[in-house]
Amino acid sequence: MAETGSLPVHIGIIMDGNGRWARQRGLRRSAGHRAGIRAIRQAMSAADEAGVHCLTLYAFSTENWSRPRYEVATLMRLFEETLQEEVDELHQNGVRIRVIGRRAQLSARLRRLVADAEARTAGNLKGQLTVAINYGGRAEIVDAVRSLAGSGVDLAALDEPTLEGALYTAGLPDPDLIIRTAGEMRTSNFLIWQAAYAELYVTQTLWPDFGAADLRAALAEYAARVRRFGGIVEGR
Ligand code: FPP
Repeated sequence: MAETGSLPVHIGIIMDGNGRWARQRGLRRSAGHRAGIRAIRQAMSAADEAGVHCLTLYAFSTENWSRPRYEVATLMRLFEETLQEEVDELHQNGVRIRVIGRRAQLSARLRRLVADAEARTAGNLKGQLTVAINYGGRAEIVDAVRSLAGSGVDLAALDEPTLEGALYTAGLPDPDLIIRTAGEMRTSNFLIWQAAYAELYVTQTLWPDFGAADLRAALAEYAARVRRFGGIVEGR
């Protein structure tokens, strides 16, 4: 199987470089994260205009708790504020919101906002916005196996579709394209199962500077690649 010249159905984004963006301007890191929210709005509307309606954003990893306490607190407050401010418009636009990751460590307020946003938008079909908070790909696989074991599945007979159905992302298509900003060439425990065949696109642009033109450049690069899914491509 191979596809050329196509549009990804699902894009995952590793939003990196907020801290560097802030440092370059003599600002606190929290200002970089605030600027990162503006970039999310731009990326979402550019993706929508291009015809891509499924986005997953890596907002906070299981490793991010080791950041300074004030920065973690700022990020958590930003998640709360942003969810509260954006959910009406996303709902009006027919976007289904989901949050993936381990919720138990999130504040009761954030958990409530997440549950409300998910419940309100559960029936929306025009777009899907998934936000990874306290997310780690390895933790996700461990959680999936634990939940299967807890529900009595015979683990000795476990197969890929069954495991997939127990991941946080059950029901979402696998990402076709993973975009990483700020230059690092790694996937950092993001969607490690789901992105097994995803195309990677790394840009030097720092996340707060990522705009519509950057998204279009990533889509153009994706369209130019040939996806082989482990097979061979005739005539090459
Ligand atoms: C990485 O930059 C960015 C983060 C760890 C946080 C990203 C979060 C946001 C943009 C807010 C998202 C909010 C919602 C509701 C989705 P970094 O701080 O690691 O940058 P650096 O590598 O330059 O230090």
